[in-house]
Amino acid sequence: MSLLSTKEILIKAQKEGYAVPAFNIHNLETIQVVLDAARNLKSPVILAATPSTVKYADENYLLAIIEKASELNNIPLTFHLDHHENVEDIKRIIKLGCKSVMIDASKHEFRNNIEIVKDVVEFAHLYGSTVEAELGKLGGIEDDLNVDEKDVFLTDPKEAYEFVKRTGVDSLAVAIGTAHGLYKSEPKLDFDRLEKIKNMVDVPLVLHGASGVPYESVQKSIEKGICKVNIATELKIPFSNAIKQYFNENPNASDPRQYLVPAKNAMYDVVVEKIKMCKSENKAHDISYNI
Ligand code: 13P
Repeated sequence: MSLLSTKEILIKAQKEGYAVPAFNIHNLETIQVVLDAARNLKSPVILAATPSTVKYADENYLLAIIEKASELNNIPLTFHLDHHENVEDIKRIIKLGCKSVMIDASKHEFRNNIEIVKDVVEFAHLYGSTVEAELGKLGGIEDDLNVDEKDVFLTDPKEAYEFVKRTGVDSLAVAIGTAHGLYKSEPKLDFDRLEKIKNMVDVPLVLHGASGVPYESVQKSIEKGICKVNIATELKIPFSNAIKQYFNENPNASDPRQYLVPAKNAMYDVVVEKIKMCKSENKAHDISYNI
């Protein structure tokens, strides 16, 4: 079975007022954890891979594992390229069967961002793949992406309208006060801005940098139009801490099948909590598959 595009998954979320969680995965174990939780909670889910993950795990392996997982798990799921900046890489991976990509050209000025995104959208649509792009600039650190606070700027609702119209993009990542990685203090989200953007564009809106954002703020952003919530940092930390603790308690351990189990369990609990936060539990039904 081929993978779903995010169009089917996100339009349903938009209509029904919940968000689909997009969890950043890195390897077989993290994919298994996300799928176990999503299957148990009957939630649609997006497995997201940054360029560093693709470099580390190889797109062919990731696609093969996730395609198989889509066959074995009776839930809507897809493989999504997160924060990819290299257009040629994106096109190559779409040709391999990836149905959902993010072209992040947000570091470019508005007109260039539009031109780059438009090119990817035209190509992706030929292959039945959907495209997310970012307008505005989120701060913080996500793998190799490191945006200084001085370069952060929030999404302008009027520009969002023009951007969506001119690019034909399928979903839009908005900058409304979140950042990638850990926060120094509690983030304050600009809900008025989000509401204005929602009134200007009809495509599903995406919230990046959801780790560390209070549960209530994420839920309020979903009420105001967010349909996809990205989570990475809050999964990596408990996974890694559990491994550290295991080695503290078992200094001579050497079996990955043992020391990775507590890591998976710790990550599982966070994935469950985030699915509940997104209100996507029990929403894994009635999606038409791309067979
Ligand atoms: P966090 O690492 O802050 O959860 O951000 C994840 C993200 O936005 C991935 O694109």
